[in-house]
Amino acid sequence: MRLLITAGPTREAIDPVRFLTNRSSGKMGYALAETAVAKGHEVILISGPVNLEAPTGLAELVSIESAREMFEAVRDRIDGCEAAIFCAAVADYRPVNSPDRKIKKTEDSLTLELEKTEDILGSARSGFGFSGILVGFAAETHDLAKYASGKLEKKGCDLVVANDVSRRDIGFDTDRNEVQLFFADGRRETLPVQTKAGIGQKLVEIIEGLVKGQR
Ligand code: C5P
Repeated sequence: MRLLITAGPTREAIDPVRFLTNRSSGKMGYALAETAVAKGHEVILISGPVNLEAPTGLAELVSIESAREMFEAVRDRIDGCEAAIFCAAVADYRPVNSPDRKIKKTEDSLTLELEKTEDILGSARSGFGFSGILVGFAAETHDLAKYASGKLEKKGCDLVVANDVSRRDIGFDTDRNEVQLFFADGRRETLPVQTKAGIGQKLVEIIEGLVKGQR
């Protein structure tokens, strides 16, 4: 199957030398891409800046920096994909102004005004007209089930993969993860703590099943 995966963080420019970002390492998205390629799928990986080697055999690797660039890359490629997995930790806000010249240290305080970035996952159905299997991720520090099931419905996902990022042993920037799966039909499942490669394998199998069910 043809599969689109977003991975890693985004960077939102404050000025030419500074940016806002987050702790995403990209490991989960890259593990998914690696497994999917190994299983013979055609994979388009759209990635923010990460310190990882891209799997060999990708159909395409698109390297982006900002949420806007990720939005455009997804919009231009999602058509024709049977599944789209939005694993990237996209910045929710970006500075309204990003001057061409470095901001100098002249004032005692500096206020940054932020605006919302494009909601890429939220645009998949209504904006891009995507009708394939849609998988979102939810990284939460509290009320995991509430936010995950809300996202499932609001964004039109078939599956939301949720992880608790308040735990230091799993999730952001570690090699291991434990995730809870929330399916559109109300089913729930936990994939217990294991390597991100292990989680990636199980998730690809589950997504293959969802695609088969849709055919
Ligand atoms: O709302 P939250 O950021 O927790 O949602 C996470 C999910 O939404 C992930 O699947 C992420 O890739 C996606 N997302 C997105 N565009 C954004 C923010 C999040 O696609 N601007």
